[in-house]
Amino acid sequence: MSERKMKRVEDSLTEQSHLLMPKCLNAAGYLFGGQLLAWIDETAGIVAKRHAEMNVVTVAVDNMYFKAGAQVNDTIVLIGRLTHVGRSSMEVRIDTYREDLSGTRTMINRAYFTMVGTDEKQHPVEVPGLIIEGVTQQIEFEAAKKRANLWKVRRQEGF
Ligand SMILES: CC(C)(COP(=O)(O)OP(=O)(O)OC[C@H]1O[C@@H](n2cnc3c(N)ncnc32)[C@H](O)[C@@H]1OP(=O)(O)O)[C@@H](O)C(=O)NCCC(=O)NCCS
Repeated sequence: MSERKMKRVEDSLTEQSHLLMPKCLNAAGYLFGGQLLAWIDETAGIVAKRHAEMNVVTVAVDNMYFKAGAQVNDTIVLIGRLTHVGRSSMEVRIDTYREDLSGTRTMINRAYFTMVGTDEKQHPVEVPGLIIEGVTQQIEFEAAKKRANLWKVRRQEGF
């Protein structure tokens, strides 16, 4: 059996920016949550694809927290990083910021998406392992492992 390839969090770290246009607002004039969800999903997909070096799908969304709104002409910045890798699954944390004209960033959303590496028939495939560096990554990894285990218990017990 060949040894599992290992990669660092930095190898797949992704930052994406969008200018908030009127078409992306809700009726109250703020960033539409569904639009943000699509941007977050795209960022998570790029992070996971860069790590896995194969196609990926979104399997679950956990802890999506809308902390503040954003308005037209704000620059929306999304930063996605891996927190945990199992066999085929990868958890990505995506932090979203509103950036003002001076460049100051205010966090408006944090979400955790679970992505799965797949083959051409959309079956789960083993992805490279994750090298954990430093205390912060270790804490994130342990918390993500708890979330992944909780999902396994929920699936077993059907709640
Ligand atoms: C993702 C998919 C291939 C997984 O298939 P599956 O038969 O559930 O496969 P498994 O049970 O082996 O799960 C694969 C991995 O995902 C994890 N997983 C599955 N469902 C999960 C959930 N709801 N939450 C968290 N992790 C989950 C499993 O724990 C496993 O992780 P591991 O390999 O690291 O141990 C399948 O569910 C699927 O095709 N879903 C639709 C995806 C999609 O269309 N997304 C939207 C568009 S991108």
